[in-house]
Amino acid sequence: MIRSVVRGTGAALPRRIMKNADFEGMVETSDEWIAQRTGIRQRHIAGDDETTASLGEAAARAALANAGLTPADIDLVVLATSTPNNTFPATAVDIQNRLGMHHGFAFDLQAVCSGFVYAVATADLYIRGGLAKRVLVIGSETFSRILDWSDRSTCVLFGDGAGAVVVEAGEGTGAIADRGVLAASLRSDGTHKDKLFVDGGPSTTGTVGHLRMEGREVFKHAVGMITDVIEATFAQAGITADDLDWFVPHQANKRIIDASAKKLGIAEQKVVVTVDLHGNTSAASVPLALSVAVADGRIKKGDLVLLEAMGGGFTWGAVLVRW
Ligand code: ACO
Repeated sequence: MIRSVVRGTGAALPRRIMKNADFEGMVETSDEWIAQRTGIRQRHIAGDDETTASLGEAAARAALANAGLTPADIDLVVLATSTPNNTFPATAVDIQNRLGMHHGFAFDLQAVCSGFVYAVATADLYIRGGLAKRVLVIGSETFSRILDWSDRSTCVLFGDGAGAVVVEAGEGTGAIADRGVLAASLRSDGTHKDKLFVDGGPSTTGTVGHLRMEGREVFKHAVGMITDVIEATFAQAGITADDLDWFVPHQANKRIIDASAKKLGIAEQKVVVTVDLHGNTSAASVPLALSVAVADGRIKKGDLVLLEAMGGGFTWGAVLVRW
């Protein structure tokens, strides 16, 4: 059977680092409050010349180099983002052009913080369905552009960045020992749409809008939703938490990550955490964390890796991959 195998990873971060202490004087907050409640210590913020497309392009080039491939080898670009360069065309098409690709196809996928997990599951289906052989799956965001910088309850939480993977068709036997995407579960529930949203858009206000969040409400639902979708993925694959080598969760809040891992019985040393360095980069958070753990040698060929995310909508999902 066809399996969608990860061949390379890459990342890109804006030049400017903003530390927690840099918010003191801007809004009523402190390094201590932010670090204690979220685990965040710093985030990267895009400059005027850095956009979702430019960061996505840089992450894509890094993933291609890591895979030993060139843009000519790719036939599909899927970009997970909620902060596109323009309402249309899709920023994925912009990145395709920046890469010098005039073949294949490209589109954006919008599932907020769950975008990258949705995009990996989508790329897997395109590959197994025969529509693509090699896919660049990118998560790229510039949330700094949709933050209300006077709202301390949201502006301290988010950061900008991009991560990417190259996924290609490979041969498998159908067994759990196969390399590639082994199982996926995706969920959404629009009854929660007003708990985390942007208060603008082309069809309503005609403006871009700002991020609004009932943080406590999101927190209340997060752990239950995350653990449910992961248990469904474990059941699909016939594995338990003990079989995992690495858990790469969405990097929104260290307390949510710790509580989810504890409830699932995933050992602390198997959890990849980068929220301290990047803040919440929405659809970029999982591929950024992945590329850090691949680059530092933690995630190796043959490892069983669980990706998970939850975000606005609500949307949530998990993907199990043999590296
Ligand atoms: N600095 C200092 N105080 C603050 C700050 C701040 N930056 N922000 C809020 N506070 C205050 C509040 O006003 C409140 O004060 P009050 O008690 O006088 O009303 C107090 O701190 C406690 O506020 P809570 O909201 O209860 O704090 P909580 O412990 O819940 O932490 C947080 C807030 C970090 C936002 C948390 O709720 C959270 O992480 N929620 C989930 C966010 C998330 O995971 N999002 C993921 C999806 S993101 C996406 O999809 C785009």
